[in-house]
Amino acid sequence: MHKTNPTKPPGFLYGTAWKEEDTKDLTLLALQTGFRGMDTANQRKHYFEAAVGEGIVEFLKETETSREDLFLQTKFTYQAGQDHRLPYNPNADYSTQVKESFASSLEHLQTDYIDSYVLHGPRLRQGLDDADIEVWAAMETFQEQGSTKVLGVSNVNAEQLSSLFQKAEVKPAFVQNRCYAHMGWDKEVRIFCQKNHIVYQGFSLLTANRQILAHPAVEAIATREQKTSAQIIFAFALHVGMLPLTGTSSQKHMQEDLAATASDLSTDDVNLIENLAL
Ligand SMILES: NC(=O)c1ccc[n+]([C@@H]2O[C@H](COP(=O)([O-])OP(=O)(O)OC[C@H]3O[C@@H](n4cnc5c(N)ncnc54)[C@H](OP(=O)(O)O)[C@@H]3O)[C@@H](O)[C@H]2O)c1
Repeated sequence: MHKTNPTKPPGFLYGTAWKEEDTKDLTLLALQTGFRGMDTANQRKHYFEAAVGEGIVEFLKETETSREDLFLQTKFTYQAGQDHRLPYNPNADYSTQVKESFASSLEHLQTDYIDSYVLHGPRLRQGLDDADIEVWAAMETFQEQGSTKVLGVSNVNAEQLSSLFQKAEVKPAFVQNRCYAHMGWDKEVRIFCQKNHIVYQGFSLLTANRQILAHPAVEAIATREQKTSAQIIFAFALHVGMLPLTGTSSQKHMQEDLAATASDLSTDDVNLIENLAL
């Protein structure tokens, strides 16, 4: 049996998308800088999962850190989200595709378990279909066997999340969504998560909200706290209970991101930022 991970993941996740040949070095650098949570996907089009595994193995070799100290998250991606480099036979049924993708992720990451296994997104933009139910049922077997600790879902709207929550035997422990300030920072989904003990992971917090980063009110808070506007956005995310992701390639930004703390903000600051784009 594996040592039980804390159910609470690290406070920040390092995202490994779009790093290509730098993936191994940036994964290693992120771990050396202090990140303990890694987000990837078995989707070669956007991620190089095997290189993430190489960076992790190198880090474990060169430090006292053990696998159990890390939080590894990866995803199953439907064929529509992939290029020709598929981690499964596309002619197989969905549950076989998920099993093949999962086995390949374990190989890539050179581990015998995943901390959080995520459905990269429902098959269709609206609603859930039979494919999603079949995929989720296959994912549930990994959790039941102990080869993933928890399950998660990404790119969902509130209706899809609620429907999955009702139908699933094993409920999602995480939601990972792009977080837009103009949608109240994904308020509807976040409220569902809060009510149902799901941890909300936010991505594109900086890139999807450039106007908020540059907003004078955010800049004023940053000046007051002697932080950058990016750190204030991450502090806001932490304050409202999100688990933020960053995919920075700069060590300085890695350090700054990890140094963002919820306590930098007052309740008034949080209310202001929450409503800035509404
Ligand atoms: N589930 C999904 O469908 C999905 C989709 C997209 C992303 N993701 C995950 O989320 C991760 C993060 O992606 P993301 O979309 O949030 O964007 P990102 O790729 O992390 O981009 C972050 C941007 O913000 C900048 N940045 C980071 N920290 C900064 C700081 N302290 N000060 C100034 N600039 C800073 C980075 O620039 P520098 O490099 O110069 O620092 C970069 O341009 C991905 O790697 C992936 O793991 C998941």
